Amino acid sequence: ARQVVVSGAASGIGRELTGQLRARGDEVTGIDLRDAEVCADLGSPTGRREAVEEVARTTGGVVDAVVACAGVSGTTQGTVAVNYFGATELLRGLRPALMAASLPRAAVVGSISGTQPNSPDIIDACLAGDETAALAAAATVAERGEGRKLYPSSKAALARWLRSVCVTDEWAGAGIPLNAVAPGVVRTPMSAAHSLTPEQQKVMDEAVPMPLGGHSEAGTIAAALRWLISPENSQVTGQVLYVDGGAEATLRGPEV
Ligand code: NAI
Repeated sequence: ARQVVVSGAASGIGRELTGQLRARGDEVTGIDLRDAEVCADLGSPTGRREAVEEVARTTGGVVDAVVACAGVSGTTQGTVAVNYFGATELLRGLRPALMAASLPRAAVVGSISGTQPNSPDIIDACLAGDETAALAAAATVAERGEGRKLYPSSKAALARWLRSVCVTDEWAGAGIPLNAVAPGVVRTPMSAAHSLTPEQQKVMDEAVPMPLGGHSEAGTIAAALRWLISPENSQVTGQVLYVDGGAEATLRGPEV
């Protein structure tokens, strides 16, 4: 059985992925704030360290795949801490355990929001690996009343991090494909938490147009993640796979 680590395993996409993997015989170590094998706060450096140490203990130091699903959609600093540093630092911390596996794979969950208006200051600080500066930049942006830019910034930074590290010695050189799945709107507790007025709903539908059958189920996103982390995927790396009902294709148009 493959040993898979899934963050955000207690809800939504992470929970669905965990169920699908277990149904196919994989062993999953879930990480979440609660209701998981490893309970830790990926929004803090201490919590991330605890998570990595605990995973090493429970898996014996060999991990076949890691999927960083945990995320939040708020308009405060924590969104950058969890979505960017919670994902990248978890993957970095578990890389030694991945290298101990024969066919290691890794994936993160991005978002179509990563293509929407963002804050370059936040993104630059993230990519520099400077969490203090990134959170300070996020606080400044939020104080300006532009807190809605934090989520897109965290996901754009995640996609750029992926591109910058995927073909280095640490990842491709170590035989580890590293990809992202970027959903549009997925029916999960996260999206349900935003109770929208009909007008807000209309703005949302225009921002994330999904001509191919509307909003996604969590299981659809999980299935794409499953393939990316399977042994079958030996050649795809550094890609942001939009599993978004056509949102990215609609927004970007026919140019490739
Ligand atoms: P969800 O809210 O159902 O699940 C997220 C999970 O992450 C929860 O179990 C939560 O406890 C966990 N989590 C949050 N903060 C954490 C922390 N500090 N430490 C450890 N665990 C933490 O959300 P959903 O929809 O399943 O989201 C999963 C991923 O998909 C996120 O990265 C999200 O940004 C992304 N996404 C979701 C979309 C949607 O429409 N639902 C659209 C695009 C991307």
